[in-house]
Amino acid sequence: MTSAETNPAARTVASTQSEMTEIILPNDTNILGNLLGGRLMHFIDLTGAMAAYRHSRTHVVTAAMDHIDFIRPVHLGDLLTLKSSVNRAFATSMEVGVKVWAENTQTASHAHVASAYLVFVAVDKEGRRQQVPRLLPETPDELRRFEDALRRRQHREAESARRKDAKLVAAAQRLP
Ligand SMILES: CC(C)(COP(=O)(O)OP(=O)(O)OC[C@H]1O[C@@H](n2cnc3c(N)ncnc32)[C@H](O)[C@@H]1OP(=O)(O)O)[C@@H](O)C(=O)NCCC(=O)NCCS
Repeated sequence: MTSAETNPAARTVASTQSEMTEIILPNDTNILGNLLGGRLMHFIDLTGAMAAYRHSRTHVVTAAMDHIDFIRPVHLGDLLTLKSSVNRAFATSMEVGVKVWAENTQTASHAHVASAYLVFVAVDKEGRRQQVPRLLPETPDELRRFEDALRRRQHREAESARRKDAKLVAAAQRLP
């Protein structure tokens, strides 16, 4: 394989699409027999990382899981399907969207149960940050997610700057 094939300047969203299916077992649930939120976040993190790996072809670390909606409970015995793809790539980071569905194995009923946005950063095996290819949105939905990802990044940066300022003000107020 040539370096241009393993390290292209850009990749399509389709080439990052990933999917995972799990059956919900007793160890995954709370005493009401519903999937634990933390376990669902673990599955979301793993499925999100798969899309980030496919885009960057490097190691990745999770920098943020900054928005997650738990829409309805998932029950013991349900089949959980998670789908992910990269929404936008920046310099070394990628925003990934993950959507989750649950299927009742007896009735075949199927429902959207959660959605999340995560940011992964590409690193080498020493943990040094790596540049990632650009992302090429091709369909109207991919283009909408691409634009929305930039707005979310700007919102994240503004929030992070606001928290830093608040810490500086609090530190200054503690000065004698
Ligand atoms: C994520 C991490 C690599 C960022 O390193 P850093 O030196 O703080 O990097 P910078 O602030 O220079 O930002 C590097 C990139 O990460 C992004 N980033 C950093 N922190 C972020 C956050 N909290 N949310 C979203 N993006 C973030 C920046 O926007 C930047 O993206 P860009 O290169 O595409 O513009 C570092 O904080 C880290 O290693 N965190 C621990 C990760 C981890 O252990 N995760 C759980 C297990 S995988």
